Amino acid sequence: MRPIQWENGVLKLIDQTRLPTEYIVNEYTDYKVVAQAIKDMIVRGAPAIGVTAAYGIVLGAKEFCTLSKEVFMEKMQKVCDVLRNTRPTAVNLFWAIDRMYTILAKENHNNIMETVTLLEQEANKIYDEDVDINRAIGCYGNGLIRENDTILTHCNAGALATADFGTALGVIRAAKEAGKHISVFADETRPFLQGARLTAFELHHEGIPVTLITDNMAGHFMKQGKINCVIVGADRIASNGDVANKIGTYSVAVLAKENNIPFYVAAPISTIDFTLDNGVQIPIEERNPKEVTHIAGQRIAPEGIAVANPAFDVTPHRYVTAIMTEKGIVYPPYKANIGKLK
Ligand code: MRU
Repeated sequence: MRPIQWENGVLKLIDQTRLPTEYIVNEYTDYKVVAQAIKDMIVRGAPAIGVTAAYGIVLGAKEFCTLSKEVFMEKMQKVCDVLRNTRPTAVNLFWAIDRMYTILAKENHNNIMETVTLLEQEANKIYDEDVDINRAIGCYGNGLIRENDTILTHCNAGALATADFGTALGVIRAAKEAGKHISVFADETRPFLQGARLTAFELHHEGIPVTLITDNMAGHFMKQGKINCVIVGADRIASNGDVANKIGTYSVAVLAKENNIPFYVAAPISTIDFTLDNGVQIPIEERNPKEVTHIAGQRIAPEGIAVANPAFDVTPHRYVTAIMTEKGIVYPPYKANIGKLK
């Protein structure tokens, strides 16, 4: 399942706000509309928004390629800024934009058309690499999954959150491909319901046994011995191993420790922010209160009520059993071992 497609200069995104009841593919040729699609979470998930932003830059370059070199560069600076100002937490977005900007800023291109071609090649490379990286994470992660394991996951770190295959769900896919009989408990993931709408959809579609639970049921099933391990994705990992991921992840990690259940994070190295010492420094996105007061457009809370809606939380590294990356499994002490991935 590929949520992002690039075909003949047109960016196609599966509208993830409509899944699973409607399967709609939107087409984009304007970088500003792409930025809005990231903000509105038509496309979401850390690696997926990075790939999408890279194609947004290609669309911007195609729009401004007939201008003089100087004006082109000014316009492209703005394109990058607009795409940067969409969602603050997932570092993959900034990582992908920086990578594209490195191509833009190279002085040795003969003309703007060559720059546009190189940008398109770079975006395709980011896309293809993401698929390979997820397969490698899956391969290493599968080594920690045992026959008959039941895995709890939170949010959607699946194919829909990446170019394909997924990170946390990539490990689950790899275990299935290896012939293991595994099953999954998917937290519904209030308020945006990525678990109920997207993870349940992806796994059900592929015939991987999945049980959907509300977020507040996780502790109950852990205590009953129904969960063997937890695997989640990440939006940003600090150098000390603190992990920002979808709101509610921290609670799951604390519950896992209390119940002696391994808590794994599956993420590409592009999710590690080597500039941050710890998770306190990770910016947390605050989203529209309507996501909390409404479900499927229906108001469920009184008018005028105060609402908080942080989209992510930070799980301190002491709760993280291991981090599954494309270069292998990283164990504590994280400061030293994450440093080796640089
Ligand atoms: O707000 P979202 O849906 O973009 O949040 C997604 C997550 O928190 C994922 O777990 C994370 O981005 C990893 S996706 C491979």
